[in-house]
Order: sequence, then C-alpha cells, then structure tokens
Amino acid sequence: MDVFGSRFRLEIFGASHAPCVGVTLRDVPAALPLSPDDFTADLRRRKSGAPGTTPRIEDDLPQLDDRRATDGTLTITFANRNYRDEDYKDFTDIPRPGHADFVAMARYGSLRDGWFSGRMTLPLVAAGVVAKKLITPTLVEARLTEVGGIAAAETEAVAQALETAAREGDSLGGIVECRCTGVPVGLGEPFFDSLESLLAHAVFSIPGIRGIEFGDGFAAARMTGSAHNDPFIDTEGHTARNGAGGINGGLSNGNPIVFRVAVKPTSSIRKVQRTFDFARGCLIDYAVPGRHDVCFALRVPPVVEAVTACVLANLIL
Ligand SMILES: Cc1cc2nc3c(=O)[nH]c(=O)nc-3n(C[C@H](O)[C@H](O)[C@H](O)COP(=O)(O)O)c2cc1C
Repeated sequence: MDVFGSRFRLEIFGASHAPCVGVTLRDVPAALPLSPDDFTADLRRRKSGAPGTTPRIEDDLPQLDDRRATDGTLTITFANRNYRDEDYKDFTDIPRPGHADFVAMARYGSLRDGWFSGRMTLPLVAAGVVAKKLITPTLVEARLTEVGGIAAAETEAVAQALETAAREGDSLGGIVECRCTGVPVGLGEPFFDSLESLLAHAVFSIPGIRGIEFGDGFAAARMTGSAHNDPFIDTEGHTARNGAGGINGGLSNGNPIVFRVAVKPTSSIRKVQRTFDFARGCLIDYAVPGRHDVCFALRVPPVVEAVTACVLANLIL
C-alpha cells in the first residue's frame, strides 16, 4: 500500500501482474456527484493502443465501491486481464538496465509482481478525476510538448521518430507541460511544504520522471535579474510574463502555475544491451522481452494532471 495526502488522502494498491490495481480515497464528500462515466475521458487519454504505446491493451473500466456515506471511503478498482507473467521471469537474474528490478530484488528479494510499473498510474488518474472535481473552478491541464527532442506539434516528424525507435527496438522520452489556472493566492508553505516541493513530491511519484522545472526553471540560472524579475501589472498580483511559474516564496501567487516534466525513454527495449547476468556471474548481450511502450511520455499528461490535482485538493480543501 502506498499513501499520499492528508485532507484528500489516497492509497493505491494492487500490481501490474496481480488480479487488479486500484485506489481508496478517504473523506471525499458524499454529496459530490460521481459516476463511472466521469472517469472515461482521462482514462482514455492514458490508455495504450496508439502508435508508440504498448500492445498490452486492458479495458481500464473503473469499478466503484462507494462507501462515502458510511465509512467515508471510495474505492476504485481496475481488473488486470491481459498480463503475461512469463515475460518477467528473466528479470530476477538479469535486472533490466534502467529499470527497478535490481533495487526491488535488493530491497524485497522479489520483483513484487509489477509494483514498479506504469500500470500503477491508472488508479492515480482515477483519483485525479475526483480531485479535479473537488478543486473546481481551479483547472489543471497538461500536454505533451516534446517527443525525443522534437516539438510535439511536428506530428509527422514525431510519428517518424516513434516508428524508427520501434523498428530499432529502442525507445524515446518526452516533455510534458502542466498549467493550473484559477489557483487561489497563498497555497503552500514557505519552507518544507513549499508548493514546488509538494508538486515535485507528487510528480516524482510517477515512475520514469527525471526532472521538473517551474516557470523559467533552469534557464533562470543564465538570466540577469532584470530579465528574470517579473513586474506586476495589476492589483491582483498578475505579472508580465509569469517567469516564476505561479509560485513565489513557496506560495501560489495567483498567476497560472506552470511547470515542465522530463520523462525518460522507456527502459525495457528490444535493442541488445551489454549487461550483467547475476545468476551466471558474467556480462551478457540481452534484449528485453515483453510488451512495452516505445515512448510512455505519450501517456503521461493525464497522470501529471492527476497528481497535480491531488496536491491542490490537499491544499484547497
Ligand atoms: C504510463 C507509464 C507507462 C510505462 N510503461 C513502461 C513500459 O512499457 N516499459 C518500461 O520499462 N517502463 C515503463 N514505464 C516506466 C517504468 O514504470 C519505470 O521506469 C520504472 O518503474 C522504474 O522507475 P524509475 O524510472 O522512476 O526509476 C512506464 C511509466 C508510465 C508512467
């Protein structure tokens, strides 16, 4: 069980190669209208099937166990019907380069049946749907801006790059930008629970994230103060170009919160890599078996939205 939040509290459970994955939410107001249809749009955005995503297709239908009116819980479960254990049998002896197999074996003595898996982001997206409703009219929107170094808007070049990576048994990363509007001024804390810390905490809970930058981000280090400072333009505290990404002193400043997330290229690749076989005690040439996303960044925008909405729900409620 993995737990996040206090006022809007979520616990995810299950695993990619177990019968199900799911999430239990606590203290969601019983009066908040909810139906399985509310989840469709975001779950569909995360779903596999498009070029560059895994051929493992699941129906991703949410089963709601709504006990909000009795014990204050709402549990959302998704069945796993299309997993193949045999694809993972090598990884105890030959941990995949870049993946979590080595650390899972070292820490738990097992691979934990697909706990370290993008499948665990399915319940996160479901939690995000509820969180988004709770924080209305604050709006959270994320979109893919880059794939393998190519602007996402260059759709033909992106499609070509995905095809080439797939053909070569390789993978690509990407960048996701998130923008939150209608955020009240003053959310967060000046130090350890600064709004950037809370968002980074949640975003780094998504498997495969390698970086996050707010507003000008790393480019700020190369700017002068006069270029980076952001003059106020009205009494509400709006600024000329929102270079701080909506946060000053750890607190939301009333401008849109804007951050970008670096998503790594998928670790599990068919391209042969020289790596260590721990059973035989020697280096071998290894091609990772199984069904994997060529570029899981394509599926990450709704996940980033979800964890962001969960953070904001914890602060706004
Ligand atoms: C939506 C989503 C789908 C993913 N699909 C794959 C995949 O098909 N193959 C793979 O090796 N990693 C995939 N990942 C990434 C792994 O889960 C992640 O690299 C692994 O858990 C290790 O965590 P780390 O990269 O943060 O160290 C996916 C991640 C997400 C968010």
